[in-house]
Amino acid sequence: MKVNILTVTLMLLLLMVNYTWGQTAMINPQARNSVSLNGKWNVIVDPTGIGEWRQVWLEKKPEKKTDFYEYSFDGSPTFTVPGDFNSQMCELAFFEGIVWYRKQFNYSGIKGKHLFLYFGAVNYLSDVFLNGEKIGNHEGGFTPFQFEITDKIQQGTNNIVVKVDNSRHSNGLPGNGYDWLNYGGITRDVCIIETNDTYIADYSIHLKKGSLNTVSGSLQLAGNKPEQNITLEIAELDILYQTKTNKNGLARVEFTSDFELWSPDNPKLYTIKIKCGTDSISDHIGFRSIEIKGNKILLNKKPVFLKGVNIHEENPYSGSRAHSPEDAKILLNAAKELGCNLVRLAHYPHNENMVREAEKMGIMVWDELPVYQHIDFSDSLVPLKMERMLSEMVHRDKNRCGVIIWCLSNETWSFTKNRDKELIRLTKKCKTLDSTRLVTHVINSQGYQNNTFNVWDTLYYHSDLIALNEYIGWYVPWQGKPSDTKWKLVCPDKPVFISEFGGEALYGNNDGPKDEAAYWTEDYQENIYRDQIEMFSTVPNLCGVCPWLLFDYKSLGRLHPVYQKGYNRKGLLSEKGEKKKAWFVMKKYYSK
Ligand code: GCU
Repeated sequence: MKVNILTVTLMLLLLMVNYTWGQTAMINPQARNSVSLNGKWNVIVDPTGIGEWRQVWLEKKPEKKTDFYEYSFDGSPTFTVPGDFNSQMCELAFFEGIVWYRKQFNYSGIKGKHLFLYFGAVNYLSDVFLNGEKIGNHEGGFTPFQFEITDKIQQGTNNIVVKVDNSRHSNGLPGNGYDWLNYGGITRDVCIIETNDTYIADYSIHLKKGSLNTVSGSLQLAGNKPEQNITLEIAELDILYQTKTNKNGLARVEFTSDFELWSPDNPKLYTIKIKCGTDSISDHIGFRSIEIKGNKILLNKKPVFLKGVNIHEENPYSGSRAHSPEDAKILLNAAKELGCNLVRLAHYPHNENMVREAEKMGIMVWDELPVYQHIDFSDSLVPLKMERMLSEMVHRDKNRCGVIIWCLSNETWSFTKNRDKELIRLTKKCKTLDSTRLVTHVINSQGYQNNTFNVWDTLYYHSDLIALNEYIGWYVPWQGKPSDTKWKLVCPDKPVFISEFGGEALYGNNDGPKDEAAYWTEDYQENIYRDQIEMFSTVPNLCGVCPWLLFDYKSLGRLHPVYQKGYNRKGLLSEKGEKKKAWFVMKKYYSK
């Protein structure tokens, strides 16, 4: 394989940079010994980016009578962390740029502990400083990262400064195009995790592929005593599994039991306790099997129809980035009320509370990377960024049995240079990271001529599902009776999932002709849903559908001054939670 020098050089460069890149974050931070840094942080809004030149992270103070500095965190406004900054200062409603955050905290720790500064997510670029010294950076707005600060923290007062930049980048993930509000800020939890010298850094506990009673997993210690005796306990099942880690701190785990399997009807989670000589951790883990058999999806060996709904990570009522368990319950209860058994967390990994709450409620989760629409696959950094973001997503959610599908892209342009090559490579990487879940890509490149869909994209050969977005009845008029729709599938035996469909309506608006799109009436949207449901009966191997989307949400490209006002109105619910007529059509379909 010809490996060009440039790529090797870039990979080496990135590895060197990588050294200061956020480490892959520990899993299950909420079960560890930690101190939360959530709350008020001082901020400096820096639209011109001059804060870098002024080196605001040094927090210089005047010494001589003639000294002065044109910045200060003391006396500055404060923003709440976690939370986007767009919704915390009206001047920042549409802001894409730099905000500097500063948190002061006291530490009086004991020797021999490891300390890690953990971020649930920062959108999009972050540079992190501790007591005036840069400790690293991270790219990507939707996955956790951490920095070890054991040797950098001081007894007494410490200052953390984070430079947050949510500007768009042509080689970013996503790139320049967003059909959602590009919320910036320290959008998820921040804490300091304290561990013993040797600690349980990672573990993966799940059913072996295709099994309903055999767990196959691993666990990893980190620190200077890697070889230790390990116990893994599931008290409810009288399981006390014992093993030893090897000289690299790694232990394989394999045991059998008659598990109560996790499913939407019975979202059973077991309390698992993992102990070694110097650490212990507990988690709530479910056991289920998900696989493709022929043209069906099997959950615990039984065919399952995915009654999905698309959700963005936005609290509709506050119009801000969702991040808390309460936000998750608002969104998931609305999905449950619609009759869903799956949520597609569009178009990026949502916060961990969302994934854990869904699992508790018995709602399956579709986890997705922000490889969204136009991505510059020929930029040498993009494959590296995709792979890193994939690793961070899988690493965080690998023990969440509610997650059944990894989706690695949405509506990328099939003719883009290197798109097929890089996404096929990413698919293979995903399967090496996790062979137990389904992997797919969402495509909208299908042809639609003479009332016939021609589904042809190369990526379908490498996906477990044929997942496609189609907006017939909204962006594209019907070419015949929905029930006469014909299909040509590139992989005729694979399950087909309609991952997006629908259209817009302004809640309460029924002025104007009901059969004309340009009036955003509820009736028009209701008809789209009726026709779509009629068309579903023609889809070969249909394994599920997923309307776009649950709530109206903010998207600055939606410019109509009467009907949109900066909102994408494809919600089945308004941003006030009001049910549109189409909601009842979908509810009826799901209740059958
Ligand atoms: C696309 C895309 C969504 C977008 C939707 C729309 O299919 O996946 O992110 O919001 O269509 O146009 O509303």
